[in-house]
Amino acid sequence: MNFELRMNESRKQVLIYSFKIYSFKVQNYHSLIHNSKLKPYLGRKFEKMSVHKKFKRITTHALQAMKARGERISMLTVYDYSMAKILDAGGVDVLLVGDSASNVMAGHETTLPITLNQMIYHASSVVRAVERALVVVDLPFGNYQGSSRKALASTVRIMKESGAHAVKMEGGKEIQESIERVLSAGVPVMGHLGLTPQSIYKFGTYTVRAKEEVEAERLIKDAKLLQKVGCFAIVLEKIPAELGKQVSEMLDIPTIGIGGGQHTDGQVLVTHDMLGITKDFHPRFLRRYANLFDTIKEAVEQYATDVKNRDFPNEKEQY
Ligand code: KIV
Repeated sequence: MNFELRMNESRKQVLIYSFKIYSFKVQNYHSLIHNSKLKPYLGRKFEKMSVHKKFKRITTHALQAMKARGERISMLTVYDYSMAKILDAGGVDVLLVGDSASNVMAGHETTLPITLNQMIYHASSVVRAVERALVVVDLPFGNYQGSSRKALASTVRIMKESGAHAVKMEGGKEIQESIERVLSAGVPVMGHLGLTPQSIYKFGTYTVRAKEEVEAERLIKDAKLLQKVGCFAIVLEKIPAELGKQVSEMLDIPTIGIGGGQHTDGQVLVTHDMLGITKDFHPRFLRRYANLFDTIKEAVEQYATDVKNRDFPNEKEQY
């Protein structure tokens, strides 16, 4: 065998060995997944890669269908990954990354100070956790009022940088151009009428809106307009139940109430309020489903006591 022939022979051997090692790895990887306790965890990755998800995602069309068949829509606010995991597992249809993060997360008195970057940070944390719910993000104050170009630019950043599915804007006729421009880019828009917290300094108070005929008529007109331009749903905040009923019956798109009475097509609450993490907020529309402030406080008190008493960690809780 001459030198060249010997070299070709050894290349062939190297190739055969490489292929054998590769097959061995592939086989073992599959048997690792199928036979081991790791399967449920590794499976998640495949689920994400697969077209067939464990849950069917909620879409704006699904919400429309829910309204058509009289099924109520559940929506909650959320601002972080861990809570989003829990709420999604709990089966909530819509998760709103609300600008109420400004109050609940940052401790501001109003929703006005929160920035676009901060909303994107919250939204991207939520999106990473969610498998089923529709994720809607509030456009923060100053990012859509008076400039439809700014509205679109802000929306594009939210959609690209967070991976959310839709945006919400507060107002009616006065923000029509912004809504239309965002919709024309293919981004679903949720409206918000009634008590719109970004206008709190115009209202001067957080009391019920549209109790008087003139304001109620304007709200009805705005609701019709939002449907006409193409919003997929409208939040109705703190309005008389009768008006909530009238608007919900009048529209084909779903209404989501917060203090909007029992006849809206869905309900939304601020999660920290309904779980009793916040304590000093008692509007009539709020139902508390837990008292987590006290539950967490008691757990923390016990932990602090255990540390002081040298009870934690014990022998089993160390290496
Ligand atoms: O930001 C928010 O939490 C909201 C809800 C009150 C609907 O807009």
